[in-house]
Amino acid sequence: MKRPTESPERDPSTLSNYYNFSLNKTDISLKINWTNQALRGLVEFSLQNKVAGVSQFVLDSSFVNVHKVWLNGEPVEDFKIAERQEPLGSALTIKPKQDIPDSGDNLLQIEFETTEDCTALQWLSPEQTAGKKTPYLFSQCQAIHARSLFPCFDTPAVKSKYNITIQSDHPVVSSGNKAEDEKACPGVFDKEDTTAQVYKFVQSIPIPSYLFAIASGDLSSASIGPRSLVYSEPSKLDSCQYEFEADTENFIKTAESIVFPYDWKTFNVLVLPPSFPYGGMENPNITFATPTLISGDRQNVDVIAHELAHSWSGNLVTNCSWEHFWLNEGWTVYLERRIVGALHGEPHRHFSAIVGWKDLENAVANFGKTNEKYTQLIVDLKDQQDPDDAFSTVPYEKGSTFLFYLENLLGGKSVFDPFIPYYFTKFKGKSLDSYQFKDALYEYFTDHKDVLDSIDWNSWFFAPGLPPKPDFDTSIADVCYQLSNRWVETLSDSKKMDDYAKDFSSKDIESWTSTQAVVFLNSVADEFEKSSVNTQEAVKALNKVYSFASSSNAEVISRWYRLAGNAKLESEYTKLADWLGTVGRMKFVRPGFRTLKSVDAKLAQETFKKNKGFYHPICRALVEKDLKA
Ligand code: BES
Ligand code: ZN
Repeated sequence: MKRPTESPERDPSTLSNYYNFSLNKTDISLKINWTNQALRGLVEFSLQNKVAGVSQFVLDSSFVNVHKVWLNGEPVEDFKIAERQEPLGSALTIKPKQDIPDSGDNLLQIEFETTEDCTALQWLSPEQTAGKKTPYLFSQCQAIHARSLFPCFDTPAVKSKYNITIQSDHPVVSSGNKAEDEKACPGVFDKEDTTAQVYKFVQSIPIPSYLFAIASGDLSSASIGPRSLVYSEPSKLDSCQYEFEADTENFIKTAESIVFPYDWKTFNVLVLPPSFPYGGMENPNITFATPTLISGDRQNVDVIAHELAHSWSGNLVTNCSWEHFWLNEGWTVYLERRIVGALHGEPHRHFSAIVGWKDLENAVANFGKTNEKYTQLIVDLKDQQDPDDAFSTVPYEKGSTFLFYLENLLGGKSVFDPFIPYYFTKFKGKSLDSYQFKDALYEYFTDHKDVLDSIDWNSWFFAPGLPPKPDFDTSIADVCYQLSNRWVETLSDSKKMDDYAKDFSSKDIESWTSTQAVVFLNSVADEFEKSSVNTQEAVKALNKVYSFASSSNAEVISRWYRLAGNAKLESEYTKLADWLGTVGRMKFVRPGFRTLKSVDAKLAQETFKKNKGFYHPICRALVEKDLKA
């Protein structure tokens, strides 16, 4: 195996010289200017030199303006923003007159302002919110967008404590606990504005820049557990509370029993407006969540288990670069499913893994031969690839499959489980690469060296495509496959919709969870695709009998449109286009546009044009690429 000479490996997705410094603390003060849609701020880094004689700071920036810089209280005149290097942004080089002092803490202060090209922020007009009265702002920094919010060492390899001060006309949440001591944060803009309120947060656990988060708007909160609040716009609050209040604390307790006690004090959730581009984002103390989770049936709470699990995998123990992203997401999916298994039984854990395996197969097929490199567990981003382009379900599912494989190979849960707190304790507060993960296994399982030696590490880490398929317990999935088989067996070119429909009934799926409906739809879609029969009438019948198109669950609706698109069901095209104007979660938007493009390219273009303003900048950019491809 081609192991790099230093561990953790250097991060290729930053232009900064982060490796020269250790960062102790970051104070950041922001003022939200709603009229100009910009953040003005002062960021103050307390840092020490790691090597002697460093003459300059190089920070990441992307479409931010830098006004003033000070080092240890003295203005630094010589700073400049280099020409943009897509997709990594523009290096900000700061050259003090003398070398940076080698001993003690240095204070680097930068006054800056965001621009309209900022990719980390989405500004919503009052009309784009549920309440229609108040504007709304939210951030999404993972993977490399923090640099468009403020100049920083934008790499998961660098962690810092934070004091956060935000001035806004509307309530604010951020990635820390509310400051108990109001004087804790400097708050440089306090004096300038009398109408705006000042909100202060403290993050006392060191976090990487991609976990910095801010949201402001008409936010209200309600309890969903002894250490948990849910925030949303007031009109949505009751339904958000209902969705999460039964499970949140159980998830936290279960995760604590698998890893170790929850370190962050509070676990709150913010439910965002529909343009939020992800299902969830594990911002510390304030998980951001898509409103598509609020389906009224508590069936999407596994996303909350997932974001919570990041409190250990990702937020305490962090991948050192996006090449090792599976250490964040693979571990998180593994823990998420362990939580589900502990609470609902092992068959449910396996059922979730079966759904994940299917997603992995689809992802591998989608990347195909041209982008095969993105199906490796460890990806190569050294050629300045955009981590957003490499993003897929592969690190999630290949990564969790790898951990499940290790669990079984080493002797099952009873043998593997003590390794979990060992690993998370060992790397707590640190950022690591996959080789250090491997070392930790060898270090812990000294009695199982021969077992570890038998692992084909090179293939697991670097081979593209699918890994060996695990043995799953299919007990929950079997009913889905059986019903799917009944539909496949009845296919015939001579049948009309009613001929199909009469043999099936809504009772077939009455007792199912929405995920069972997803497994059924995936299976039908696969089988129908393989069939030589024209499946259009059967697909119509399917919806007539089971009403998938009007499901309240976006996971189900998105699979339905895939099926309808494959069967060239024209009546669904405009409905799909309309639906794409209401969801901003990329997991649904991108496949939705892919389907629409394949059946009606013109409608896909028009739909994108019409909704461009609604989508988040990250989503907008990716759909634009998808539509051109
Ligand atoms: N951290 C991710 C979201 C993310 C990844 C944002 C990379 C930006 C870049 C988050 O924890 C996540 O994985 N969300 C999933 C939900 C999950 C249950 C798999 C999602 O958004 O669908
Ligand atoms: Zn995740």
